[in-house]
This record gives sequence, structure tokens and C-alpha cells, in this order.
Amino acid sequence: MVGKDVNITSENPLDLFLKIGLDERTAKNTVANKKVTANLIAVIHEAAVTDGCDRAIGNLLYTVATKFPANALVHRPTLLQYIVSLKIKTPAQLEAAFSFFATTGSENFKINELEEACGVGVEVSEDDIKCTVTEIIEEHKSVILELRYRTNVGELFGHVRKRQPWADPKIVKQLVDANLYALLGERTAADDEKPIKKKKEKPVKVEECTTAVDTPPKPSEEELNPYLIFPSPEENYKVHTEIFFSDRPVLRPCNTREMLEKHLKATGGKVFTRFPPEPNGYLHIGHAKAMFIDFGLAKERGGCCYLRYDDTNPEAEKKEYIDHIEEIVRWMGWEPFKITYASDYFQDLYELAVELIRRGHAYVDHQTPEEIKEYREKKMNSPWRDRPIEESLKLFDDMKRGIIEEGKATLRMKQDMQSDNYNMHDLIAYRDAWCIYPSYDYEHCTVDSIENVTHSLCTLEFETRRASYYWLLDALSLFQPYVWEYSRLNVTNTVMSKRKLNRLVKEKRVDGWDDPRLMTLSGLRRRGVTSTSINAFVRGIGITRSMINVDRLEYHIREELNKTAPRTMVVLHPLKVVITNLEVGSVMDLNAKKWPDAPLDDASSYYKVPFSNVVYIENSDFRMKDSKDYYGLAPGKSVLLRYAFPIKCTDVILGDDKETVLEIRAEYDPSKKTKPKGVLHWVSEHSPGVDPLKVEVRLFDKLFLSENPAELDDWLGDLNPESKMVIPGAYAVPSLKNAAVGDRFQFERLGYFVVDKDSSSEKLVFNRTITLRDSYGKVGK
Ligand SMILES: *[C@@H]1O[C@H](CO)[C@@H](O)[C@H](O)[C@H]1NC(C)=O
Ligand SMILES: *[C@@H]1O[C@H](CO)[C@@H](O)[C@H](O)[C@H]1NC(C)=O
Ligand SMILES: *[C@@H]1O[C@H](CO)[C@@H](O)[C@H](O)[C@H]1NC(C)=O
Ligand SMILES: *[C@@H]1O[C@H](CO)[C@@H](O)[C@H](O)[C@H]1NC(C)=O
Repeated sequence: MVGKDVNITSENPLDLFLKIGLDERTAKNTVANKKVTANLIAVIHEAAVTDGCDRAIGNLLYTVATKFPANALVHRPTLLQYIVSLKIKTPAQLEAAFSFFATTGSENFKINELEEACGVGVEVSEDDIKCTVTEIIEEHKSVILELRYRTNVGELFGHVRKRQPWADPKIVKQLVDANLYALLGERTAADDEKPIKKKKEKPVKVEECTTAVDTPPKPSEEELNPYLIFPSPEENYKVHTEIFFSDRPVLRPCNTREMLEKHLKATGGKVFTRFPPEPNGYLHIGHAKAMFIDFGLAKERGGCCYLRYDDTNPEAEKKEYIDHIEEIVRWMGWEPFKITYASDYFQDLYELAVELIRRGHAYVDHQTPEEIKEYREKKMNSPWRDRPIEESLKLFDDMKRGIIEEGKATLRMKQDMQSDNYNMHDLIAYRDAWCIYPSYDYEHCTVDSIENVTHSLCTLEFETRRASYYWLLDALSLFQPYVWEYSRLNVTNTVMSKRKLNRLVKEKRVDGWDDPRLMTLSGLRRRGVTSTSINAFVRGIGITRSMINVDRLEYHIREELNKTAPRTMVVLHPLKVVITNLEVGSVMDLNAKKWPDAPLDDASSYYKVPFSNVVYIENSDFRMKDSKDYYGLAPGKSVLLRYAFPIKCTDVILGDDKETVLEIRAEYDPSKKTKPKGVLHWVSEHSPGVDPLKVEVRLFDKLFLSENPAELDDWLGDLNPESKMVIPGAYAVPSLKNAAVGDRFQFERLGYFVVDKDSSSEKLVFNRTITLRDSYGKVGK
């Protein structure tokens, strides 16, 4: 049956999935995933239920399609028969079957062993279940009476399941509910106070890529106050009542009332967050989002945010990075409550590790990294997992004292080698390089707890580590912060992994960590972008969105610069225009607007610009051949010089090649009666025979050609060869002469520019922060 050619093109997968009872959302999501769709279609055919089936069966088939171990595909049809004939009918049985196949080679497969492993034919009577449920409720009675309806019912189900793995979960639930009711009576108002809003429970969904350009993001509730989704510190105690038979558990803090009260007393009920960068590189725009969430939440609630250097990797960190991070955090407008280092807590962490071993929750292991990997894949225990506690304590002490040869021992948490979550497979707590140092998984949650952090917010890649986070704090009876993950911010046409940024810098593909073309915060700063617009951008995308088009950031940069950068005129590639009906040596001082809506009576909103018989316009604003949709200058045609007069091209002086335009002759219209369509920026000689103010201008473009370079194997090959262009001899209006480093301007028709620190008294250097709107007509490239 396997490998049989199934004609899948003739049927509509969505219909098929709905027929087997998947809910519409799951069905639609599945269709969006090619691999799962192909698997599920194959499974449905193998199970011969193309005409539909009971939804309970359908849900199991779906699980088979997503989780069946690839090494045992030959046995899939057998398993499907068991499902269709209702011999395997619960998720627990199915899980057992998967583990069975995963650990049994297909040659050694024996059907009776499968049946045994999955409890096929084991009928658990309702009386048996009743008995077990009563036992469990009795054992946990004191906790239940204390917490009443806030009892962690999922945990109770877990206990029942351990004793009666094949019991019908529906009956278990009914019986647990009935027992709780018998014990506690009706729910009271107190049971319901401070309910966790539905919203908070929603897992964060990665939204689709946003391509909106130049349109202001619609204000959403989130945008008005993006922090509304976070609970208050008082809500940080056990609340969850989900069943976790079929789905993975929704993991939440499970602090006891007592623990929470102690915590609240220490913190005064304030929100405590932390921003925990690893000091091994410069911060980028993704960190701006992290800061916005960590510092922003604390600020919004009148709380405190730690800046905590996650310096547990002894090889990576550097003073340069530490200094940079502190400085850039402040530049972004955030004030750390305290600056701490994970390494400040090494003694506490060590003592906690000893305690963890004492409690039987950790062991010293000698498996090599390869062995650990292999055993995890096979869900097998390390041979050292069950060694005596005393032995682990002794060895851990040896590790600490450096007696054990480096790399020959680790401390591993005794978690759950059978878990579907890889991050529960006995993660490493300590390695013995550099004597010993704690792993991220061990250190992060414990330090959060030691610092009494109320909200531990991180990016979605860490979602699967939540189980381990809570496991460890629970195993050590430590306070558990509220953990929440947001999607990582990706921006198009750039790379953001530290590893890739490092290469660009090390290989000198860019000019250092603060190259204006990088999306590092220091790069954006050097480019003239303000922290205000970066924060506005982050707020605008909302804290749950994903891949963001770089245009969206640019929108916010323009929004701000349009209000704060005064206008001026610079000609990048000057073309000389001699005005023949204006006397040589006569210079008019005209008013040019710094702001588009400058009031007529306010001198400070104008700058002076000289107009004489030698004017320079942009080379690209002249063509020999006119056309209908062209608004620049051409022989016989008129244009308006902004803030000055209309001019009409009367003659063109060509070079010897008869192509190069050397100079234009024109006449101006002092009466301004001509109304040309085209309006040009320009610069003029301020005294006869003296060139205008010469400045250097640097233009930047996207650093990478494709939107998602990170996914390319040859991502370096995608670098945009024209991402930087230096124009040494641009002409500027004289009023720019006194511009100081860091001053920002809008060069009319060209974009926003910042005075670079490479400027000297001889020469001003401007870097372009950003172009004007794309549609505004690009000049100067
Ligand atoms: C954290 O809270 C505990 C009480 O739960 C308190 O003893 C401790 O001093 C607090 N630590 C910090 C860093 O605030
Ligand atoms: C201006 O451009 C130069 C050349 O790319 C660069 O080295 C410098 O950092 C830039 N300055 C600013 C302020 O962006
Ligand atoms: C964003 O980046 C992450 C990590 O590099 C990647 O897994 C994810 O697919 C990216 N998202 C999009 C929408 O490209
Ligand atoms: C700048 O703001 C003005 C209003 O003050 C608006 O008319 C103009 O379109 C804006 N320009 C850009 C490039 O956003």
C-alpha cells in the first residue's frame, strides 16, 4: 500500500480535510502547508476514509500525518487500521504508538508488542476511572481546598493519566469536574475575580508579511497601547485549567499564593522586566523591538527594567560591545533600572544547581555531544541518568574544582526524555569548560527569578523552551515570571543575525558595525535616523507582527524628518546654465522656504538664496529631446526655478563629441508670467566667477538586492554593488556653509541628509538618510 500512486490532483484537499472532520481553521492551515497536506492526503487514502469519517478519527489521522516517525513508514497502514477500527482511539494511545515505532526498528516489529504498548483492547471501566480520580483528588485535597477553582486541573489529569494511561479522557474530565464540585460546591464570585482575559491566552500568531508602503498604519487597539495584553504582577499565580490531553499544555506560571505574596512584597507589586542582550555584537533594529517591549512595558506601568548582560558564554563577550550596548540603549531613550550581568549570580546559580541535584532533578553525565544527540533522537536515557545523588554531588564538586578533564562531564537536568518537546530532553545545565559555566537554559530562568522579574519577554524561537523554563523553576521551588514570546522582527533587504553581521564587518564588506547601510542601531544613527522614528516604527508594526518591509521603517523616518529637517537646495551633478538676459555681476537675494507652509511674515522660516546669471541645475534635469511626460528643461522649453523665476532654454553648447552637454543658455522671465509645469531645484553663483559652495554627498541604497538574503546560500553574493555612492563635487546654497555635524536637512527633490562627521572646515560632507517618497521623482542617481 505504501508508495501506491495516489491520484491527488483530482480532489480538493480542503474538502477532503473537512470531510474527515477537521475544523475549518486547521483544514485551511493544513492546505497552506504543502508537506503536511501531502502526508495527510496519503494517510486518508491509506486509511480508506476518502468519503469521510468520524471527527475523532479524523483528528487522530491528522496527528498521524504530522507526527508519524519517518523511519517506520512501512507500518503506518497497520497503525491506521487500528485507528479506523477504533482499537486505538485516544491521543495517549497514539502517542504511545509513535514512541513504540520510533524506538523499535521496523525489522523487529511485532504486532502484539504494539498492541501492548498502546493498550489496545485494554478496557478501563468507568469504575476503575472513578477509583483513580477519587484517589488523586484525595491526595491533592489540601491544595485543591486552598486554590479552589484555580487548581491546576491539567495537573490532576496528568496524575490520573499516569495511573490509567488508557482511560477515556472525556470520562476522566467529567469525573474530575464532578469531584471538584462535590468538594467545593458552586463557584463563587471570589473564584472568578481577576479572570485572565481571553486575549492574554491567545498564542502569538505570526502575521503575514506587511507590505503597506507610505500609508500610515491604521491605529489598532494594540497601537494605542500595545502593552494591554500583559497581565499585572498580581495575576502571576496558578490559574490554568486547560486540559492537555490532545494538545500540548499552555504553559503558565504556577506560583502558589504564598510565593506570589512574598514576591509582591519584595517588588512592591511593580512590573519588573529585563532586556538581556548577549554582549557579542552591536544591537540592531530587532533589538529596538525587544527594548520597546521590555523597557516600554516597564515604563508604561511605572515599573523597572533591568539591562542584563547575558554573559554566560565565556568566549564571546567583549568590552567594546558592553560599552556600545549601554550607550545605544540610552540613545534609544531607555533608562535601565540597574545594569546587571548574568555572571553576577554565578554563586547563587551554583548553589541552586547543588540543590537541584539534591532534589534528584539533575545528574552529572559523561555522554559526548554526539551521544547526547543520538540518545535524544531515540528518546533514550543516558546510562548515568539514574546514578546516586551523592555521586552527582561529588562529581559536580569535582567539575567546579577543575579536577575533571574538560569536556568530560556536564550537569544535566532530569526532565522528560519522552517528551515531544526536544527542549525537555534533559537539557544541559552546566558545562565544564573554563571549570564550569551554566547554560542559557539553566541560567536564564533562574536569573529572571532571582531578579524577581514579573514578565520575561523574548522572541518566538524560545517558545519551545518555555516548558523547560517552568520545569526548572518548579523543580527549585522558585518564583515563576510570566513568559511571553513575540515574533522576531525581520526587515527586507538586509540581514540581522549577529553571525552574518559579524562577517560583513570582519570581511570589510561594509564600513564597520555602524555603516549607514546596516540595520544596526548605530548604523541607523550615523545615517541620521532618530530614535524617535525607530520607536514610532516599532510601535506602528505592533508587537506581534513579523517580516516587515523596509519601506515601513522608511515611512516613519520620513514622517519625522519631514517635520524636523528644514529644506534647502543642493545640486548633485551640476549643469551650468548661463542666463543671457541677466547682467553679469547682478545678484538678487531671494527668499526660499525652509518649510512648505512657511508663514510669509516670519523671517526665520526663510533662508536667503542668491540668484545670478550663472545657475546650476541637475544634469539629469536636462534633455536634448523633449517629450510629453517630461517636465525638465529641453531646448526651447521652460521650467520654473523654485523660489525664483521661470527660465527658457535658448541654446545648448555641446562638447567636441557633439553629445556631451557643456552648458545651457537661457533667458529668465522677470515678470513670472510664464507658468511652466516643471519646477527644479538649483544653485547659483553668489558672486561673479566664484563657484558655489562645494560639498560631498554620499548616497546609500539597500544593502542587499533581494528581500530575504538570509535564506540564500550565497547571501554575500546578493550584496548590492551600488549600495553606496560618493559624489565629491555637489553644489550647495551658501546658507549651508554653517551647517554643523549632525544637522539634518531636506535637499529639495533629493531626500533627507545629515552632516557627516567627516566634514572639515574645507569641505562639508552630507550623507543621505533617506530619499523622498519614491514616487516623488528620483534625481541624482
Ligand atoms: C526578590 O524577591 C525576594 C522575595 O521573594 C527577595 O528576598 C529578594 O531580595 C528579591 N530580589 C531582588 C533582586 O529584588
Ligand atoms: C557617511 O558616509 C560615510 C561613507 O559611507 C560613512 O563612513 C559615514 O559613517 C557616514 N556618516 C553618517 C553620519 O552616516
Ligand atoms: C524571520 O526570521 C526568522 C529567523 O531568521 C525566520 O525563521 C522567519 O521565517 C522569518 N520570517 C519571515 C516572514 O521571513
Ligand atoms: C511633508 O509634510 C507636508 C505637510 O506639512 C506634506 O504636504 C508633504 O506631502 C510631506 N512630504 C513628504 C515627503 O512626506
